[in-house]
Amino acid sequence: MLSRALCGTGRQLAPALGYLGSRQKHSLPDLPYDYGALEPHINAQIMQLHHSKHHAAYVNNLNDTEEKYKEALAKEMEFHHVGQSGPELLISSDLPTLASQSAGISGDVTAQIALQPALKFNGGGHINHSIFWTNLSPDGGGEPKGELLEAIKRDFGSFDKFKEKLTAASVGVQGSGWGWLGFNKERGHLQIAACPNQDPLQGTTGLIPLLGIDVWEHAYYLQYKNVRPDYLKAIWNVINWENVTERYMACKK
Ligand SMILES: [Fe+2]
Repeated sequence: MLSRALCGTGRQLAPALGYLGSRQKHSLPDLPYDYGALEPHINAQIMQLHHSKHHAAYVNNLNDTEEKYKEALAKEMEFHHVGQSGPELLISSDLPTLASQSAGISGDVTAQIALQPALKFNGGGHINHSIFWTNLSPDGGGEPKGELLEAIKRDFGSFDKFKEKLTAASVGVQGSGWGWLGFNKERGHLQIAACPNQDPLQGTTGLIPLLGIDVWEHAYYLQYKNVRPDYLKAIWNVINWENVTERYMACKK
């Protein structure tokens, strides 16, 4: 029976959450080059806003979301023993949402579920951009070498065909999102994918991210206006193939 009673003698059913209290907060990673280093292909104003405002916002919002998630996990039901009739569930504002309480399950699962979209969006934004910065380099461009080039030829026919396919997938993203080269570990081959919003590639498709192309307007509008294909033509000049190759070699082991 549910009761609106507050009682200091209640017995808490506590999950072990000590490790959550010591969690490090996420922080904005430094760019491995100056904001103007990718010019003329991506200008300094775009890079500065993209990194210091957009990516920073994902990091801050992810930290806020994880804090709320931690609080939801820590919320516990309290039971007060009322003799032979069994424990009576107590309710207070510090306890889980009513839906979780009435279901008789520990932790505020309702609140955890409600936080999932924010976790996906901001966690995805942090993951995606952290990969993206390292996928770019002022010394980039050209073609990959070695095993990655061989895998691209094997899975797409040629490097040019691969470029065409990833460009087309990225141009075709409706609204905001990302084009990706990923590695399908189960099948052992490379794969192109497009993700909406900030959906993280591995978390939503299972593919391991190797190369991400941000096609949100914040990534190109100040320089290329609404002409996404021009931005996508230019970005190939600053792709850091060494970084993409390192990612490929690490995940195919
Ligand atoms: Fe972005």
